[in-house]
Amino acid sequence: MLKSVFLCILLLQCYKRCSSYDHSCQAVACDDIRNYWPNTSSDHYKIVGKGGTTYNIYCGQDRCGSGGWTRLAYLNMSDPTQSCPSGFRLYQSGGVRACGRPATNDGSCASVQFPSNGIRYSQICGRVVGYQYSSPDGLIGGNQDNINGSYVDGVSITRGSLRNHVWTLIASWSHNYCPCSTGGSAYPVPPFIETHYFCESASGQLFANILWDGQDCRYSDKACCSAPGIPWFHRDYGNTTTTDYIELRVCGDEGTDNEDIPVGYYEIYIK
Ligand SMILES: *[C@@H]1O[C@H](CO)[C@@H](O)[C@H](O)[C@H]1NC(C)=O
Ligand SMILES: *[C@@H]1O[C@H](CO)[C@@H](O)[C@H](O)[C@H]1NC(C)=O
Ligand SMILES: *[C@@H]1O[C@H](CO)[C@@H](O)[C@H](O)[C@H]1NC(C)=O
Ligand SMILES: *[C@@H]1O[C@H](CO)[C@@H](O)[C@H](O)[C@H]1NC(C)=O
Repeated sequence: MLKSVFLCILLLQCYKRCSSYDHSCQAVACDDIRNYWPNTSSDHYKIVGKGGTTYNIYCGQDRCGSGGWTRLAYLNMSDPTQSCPSGFRLYQSGGVRACGRPATNDGSCASVQFPSNGIRYSQICGRVVGYQYSSPDGLIGGNQDNINGSYVDGVSITRGSLRNHVWTLIASWSHNYCPCSTGGSAYPVPPFIETHYFCESASGQLFANILWDGQDCRYSDKACCSAPGIPWFHRDYGNTTTTDYIELRVCGDEGTDNEDIPVGYYEIYIK
């Protein structure tokens, strides 16, 4: 359902933000809408801008413990009308669809970027559903010092062209390789990741197990399933705000016959 929201009312909120934060007036975001109507639900909103131009935004009101989130990224491959982002390859099996790297014999990342459309933000909240194809081995083998390369078998989420790390979602065929594993072969994360990651191992066939959902962790990676917030990742930059675009990359440091981590669902919000 589309609700019409008139900018002539919201502009008051917008100008208020401008004067108190002392930067130029920004695009209307979901926290503006929520400030005006505290009880709004998660929904699509149609913003009527100057001169009658309109645009749609989706607001999440119950994400990472609060409301007023503007959605930047959304992929739901269970919806047959949706297709993979440009530069990703479709995996399809038994009615499940997901998006991974184009076929290659080498390490690579498939990338998609989500512009903030001028919305200034200080928090990011999101979740990603991935699957294991063949034998991804987490952080083993990749060039771990280089955030620009395939440092992980999994999903890398960064912001801005200098790739400020946001979250890493690690996939491993062995439950022993996750950084949180207790099996004695745990791989440490590179320093730039800090504590901002989820890791899960999956056995068996493609689509047999959903990664990073906080369920069905096995044996020594059980602790990974109790990561705070999982499946939602949350970054709060405090008083630091940015309009950086957000980038999601599916990476592997070996060829796609050997390993891939196709994603079937993601949603990423800012405020
Ligand atoms: C929002 O919802 C709460 C609880 O349902 C209600 O008490 C409150 O009056 C509502 N506020 C507005 C502005 O509608
Ligand atoms: C994804 O799409 C399917 C099919 O349209 C729908 O049933 C499901 O609710 C969607 N999932 C989410 C989390 O929105
Ligand atoms: C990643 O690339 C950016 C520019 O694209 C560069 O400024 C930065 O130094 C690179 N980081 C590393 C670790 O190489
Ligand atoms: C952030 O802003 C609040 C309110 O303006 C202020 O009280 C606080 O000291 C600031 N924190 C930092 C780390 O600058």
